[in-house]
Amino acid sequence: MKLTVIGCGYLGATHAASMAELGHDVLGMDCDMAKVADLNAGKAPFYERDLDDLLAEHTASGRLRFTASYAEAAAHADLHFIGVGTPQSKTGNAYDLGQVFTAVRQLAPRLHGPAVIVGKSTVPVGTVPRIVDILREFSPAADHIEVAWNPEFLRESFAIEDTLRPDRIVMGFAGQHTRAETLLRQCYSKIIDAGTPTIVTDLATAELVKSAANAFLATKISFINAMAEVCEATGADVMELAEALGHDTRIGRRGLRPGLGFGGGCLPKDIRGFMARANELGAHQALAFLREVDAINNRRRERMIDLAREQCDGTLTGKRITIWGAAFKPDTDDIRDSPALHVAQQLHQHGAEVTVSDPKALDTARKTFPELDFIDDPITAAEGTDLLLHLTEWAQYSQIDPKPLATRVTQPKIIDGRGTLDPTRWRNAGWTYRALGRPNSPRS
Ligand code: UDX
Repeated sequence: MKLTVIGCGYLGATHAASMAELGHDVLGMDCDMAKVADLNAGKAPFYERDLDDLLAEHTASGRLRFTASYAEAAAHADLHFIGVGTPQSKTGNAYDLGQVFTAVRQLAPRLHGPAVIVGKSTVPVGTVPRIVDILREFSPAADHIEVAWNPEFLRESFAIEDTLRPDRIVMGFAGQHTRAETLLRQCYSKIIDAGTPTIVTDLATAELVKSAANAFLATKISFINAMAEVCEATGADVMELAEALGHDTRIGRRGLRPGLGFGGGCLPKDIRGFMARANELGAHQALAFLREVDAINNRRRERMIDLAREQCDGTLTGKRITIWGAAFKPDTDDIRDSPALHVAQQLHQHGAEVTVSDPKALDTARKTFPELDFIDDPITAAEGTDLLLHLTEWAQYSQIDPKPLATRVTQPKIIDGRGTLDPTRWRNAGWTYRALGRPNSPRS
């Protein structure tokens, strides 16, 4: 099938490459010429596992091309996926839908016959009618254009896997047995035929599924982090608590990892955007709990700063602090709302000399936080430090031998913000090991 993907960020570039992998003839469109050039050269403009390989394979096979031209996109196909960004607005909690509306506004006058527009971006419920209004105003073929919603649930660092082997497909349509449904089912036939649960629903429900899913995931993380606060007050161990809870299949272990909390380009802005939309709809009470979910999440960052101060004998001024991790989670170079960098910046503001290390995210981090020091190698970064903070759980950090490292720092003190280092190993190597939600000393 011929199709286009408008917007080639984390979502769009992954979707475009994955659709080519399914055998379709794909044209990705993005207004950033540098990004288009990279993508046409088979290179992702960001780090995502396996994406470079897929891009290289399918730009070479001719099934995948990228352009900065809306005219070319409109001419290429009559199935258009919208995967542009929907960031938090600069002035409040609501979404900034500017990129979605611009994409539709640009495409609309260039659509002259029957077409299907499929939204994948995360949007507040009630966005489709606004898109339909834009089509009516700007497209000569508005009566022949259908809008469908097909939310994307991919996790960064598993984006390709989640796109090609999703745990479900959700599709929302304006009516029964529409052409949009036929096209979308055809587009995903390999995935659907593999037995993937496929939920077909109305447009509002399809829009809402994504908001509800991310609200649930954020709530689960903040729940376990609230338990960490209680553990800190009682001397209990949140890691063991999480394990004990997770064996109950109604609760489940996934997404129940305590630590520094959630960040990234989705969960934080999605719960805020969801609350803002509920307010507009007069349903603010229904989502009041999300304010607490957000607050618990932010308190983990504050707690980390308090713990760091405590470990630095009450003052951060002039202390050398090394942070392992800049990305908002491992296996990505995405630093949007990164808990690690938030803590790094706050410590810097409190007078500490902060050095940050990360396997993939330093280039972007350097540009955004020029006030911090950055060193690629985690051992070199820790040289002469007064305190080490482990804030993003890259697998390689668990492999580092704490024994020789203890001789290279000024004070062998570590705070494990993700609870993935082995406390016994670090304590046996002479370190003072502290972790969020865990006891200060080993169980006797
Ligand atoms: C998330 C959703 O998982 C995905 O379905 C949606 O499409 C987009 O938002 P993503 O932001 O890539 O995906 O990351 P995710 O793996 O969910 O992690 C989000 C944040 O929560 C990270 O900062 C991570 O470190 C944190 N997290 C996750 C926890 O602190 N504990 C957990 O148990 C899980």
